[in-house]
Amino acid sequence: MEIIIQPSNHHIATIAAESISDALKKNPNLVLGLATGSTPIALYKILVQKYKNRELDFSRVTTFNLDEYIGIPCHHPQSYHTFMAKHFFDHVNIPIENQHIPQNATGDFESYCEKYEKKIKDSGGIDIQILGIGTDGHIAFNETGSSLSSRTRPVTLSESTLKANAIHFNSDKSAVPEMAITMGVGTIMEAKQCILLASGKSKSEAIVNAVEGPITASVPASVLQMHPNTFIIIDEDAASALKEIDYYKRCYENRLKLLST
Ligand code: PGA
Repeated sequence: MEIIIQPSNHHIATIAAESISDALKKNPNLVLGLATGSTPIALYKILVQKYKNRELDFSRVTTFNLDEYIGIPCHHPQSYHTFMAKHFFDHVNIPIENQHIPQNATGDFESYCEKYEKKIKDSGGIDIQILGIGTDGHIAFNETGSSLSSRTRPVTLSESTLKANAIHFNSDKSAVPEMAITMGVGTIMEAKQCILLASGKSKSEAIVNAVEGPITASVPASVLQMHPNTFIIIDEDAASALKEIDYYKRCYENRLKLLST
């Protein structure tokens, strides 16, 4: 795990965007795992700008989103379908048939989720998975107690997630759907690279638990300690509870030095 501590959310987004740009230039058929939430909005903005500047071409890219609410239609203003269209898909040239977001499948969830997993496998697997983190340490909608080898499935959102997401539903917690379809922790762990982004003091406890705590289903993000190619890109506030901040900063500086020689 590489911990990269930056002064602001803009710096976090810039580093993540550079990683994606470099990977896309090397591999036009890149498979991206995408996240929603407030954190990656700045990243999508930079990627859209790079596309508009003709620096990037997404025409052969395939994407898989982490999750979607159950119980609201895809066209609902707060659905993750709407989020992705607004912040990314409407502004770049990813073919619609290459964009995958879990659907509000009403019937057979088991076979729907199996098919979602199969589509990921058939695409060759996710090259770069973007992740946020919940204040409770969740990744995607894998809440506290999620099996660390869980797969795509329907889940019930925790109280802390319902509270955190109420802001998008006129601060009405009761309006937040209680369930969602999410990629599993095991699904996420199969991505070739994970990039977890976090900013703000409210994430500091989740970050210290994920990075320096024990690997436990109580903090699903802690499983990333076992992932061979994960970058945790965070701002000073999100990093503020880490014990080894100075060491992580030296590691990053030295890595940059190595890369520039
Ligand atoms: P946020 O959500 O980016 O809106 O903070 C992250 C998450 O809950 O995974």
